[in-house]
Amino acid sequence: MKNCVGQVVRGKDFWDRKIELETIWEAIDSGSHILLVAPRRVGKTSIMHKIKDEPKDGYIVIYIDTESADNENEFWHKLFNAMMEEDFINKLKSKSKVLYERLTNIKIKKVSASGVEFVDGKTLDYSVAFETLVKDLDIDKKLIIMIDEFAQTVENIIKYEDVKNANSLLKAHRSLRQNPKVSKKVTFVYAGSIGLESVVSKINSIKIINDLNNIKVLPLLKLEAFKFTSQLCSSIKIDMSEDAIKYLLEKVEWLIPFYIQLLIQQLKILSREDSDRVLDNSAIDEAINKALEHRSYFESWQTKLRESFSNDEYLFAKEILNIISENNTMASSQIINIATKHELNEDEAKEMIHTLIYDGYINNNENSKIYRYNSPILRQWWNKNVAN
Ligand SMILES: Nc1ncnc2c1ncn2[C@@H]1O[C@H](COP(=O)(O)OP(=O)(O)O)[C@@H](O)[C@H]1O
Ligand SMILES: [Mg+2]
Repeated sequence: MKNCVGQVVRGKDFWDRKIELETIWEAIDSGSHILLVAPRRVGKTSIMHKIKDEPKDGYIVIYIDTESADNENEFWHKLFNAMMEEDFINKLKSKSKVLYERLTNIKIKKVSASGVEFVDGKTLDYSVAFETLVKDLDIDKKLIIMIDEFAQTVENIIKYEDVKNANSLLKAHRSLRQNPKVSKKVTFVYAGSIGLESVVSKINSIKIINDLNNIKVLPLLKLEAFKFTSQLCSSIKIDMSEDAIKYLLEKVEWLIPFYIQLLIQQLKILSREDSDRVLDNSAIDEAINKALEHRSYFESWQTKLRESFSNDEYLFAKEILNIISENNTMASSQIINIATKHELNEDEAKEMIHTLIYDGYINNNENSKIYRYNSPILRQWWNKNVAN
């Protein structure tokens, strides 16, 4: 197991997320379409790649990341392109004769604003074209289409194109999911680091996604995080006592692999710089400070807010996060004053707080009236770089 920090992990570097994978496969087997729910960096994309790299028998998997698509046409373009890609087609040769023959015989000329244009001159609506390609797939095969950063795509379409197009994409997906001919053959798995629910509720279309089976990807449990950290230490050959690992996990608190890897990386550097260095609590504190210097690991937490919200909403969220970063916690009674200052009404403020929770910044798990950061490391970074 290598210590990968920030890239999607594959193969041996993937720490088995047994519970999540079992839950996802069970949902796929039962025929539901899935929304993978978790804030950024919790491990959704890595899980999706695991499913793609090691699918169960009878399943064929396509993975696409549609983050860069900012109009409806581009989204479909990406989907059809993925289905026409050489690698995918080659894989089909042994997996699904029907789909292989269909995809190699039906030639798509281009995917344009008017739909999918085929070489034979026909142009079909995106979802009709999709249905045609997949409908009578081999009897014992099912296609899993994983769409990463879907919420971001919908948000981009709202921003750069039109609410109408966003709705049309969401509706097309819903009708594909509800079309028995498609659903029998295809499972959609959507994921994204911003909440699809909050994006969709902004355009009052929450009903369009209420058929999805939401599966949460959670941080590691304490014991699992301990095992993960120990294994990481031994495979990259750094020596840490049980107590030191426990201290590190206390400091990380929000036990997603990413923050653990980030600190282990810094500890490795400390021990490389001084081979006699004992990796004790003070070394861990030093590693945290060093980790905080990596702007690139944290900055997206701020830029996403700036990009996704109106200026008032952004300033409101920033102030909330500033206050919590300063005082560790914030009482919900303070929210309304801050909202008024930024000209948001109570509902808008509540929706923003909901988004901050959903997107993984803060929680009120222990006491519903008290907010705090999920990650003390993010809290410290925010305090140092944004609040001050
Ligand atoms: N199962 C895992 N095993 C090891 N590292 C992981 C695992 N899941 C996530 N990570 C670490 O966390 C980072 C973020 O994971 P990623 O799958 O990109 O999350 P997300 O898609 O939720 O943003 C990865 O770059 C990797 O460092
Ligand atoms: Mg991801």
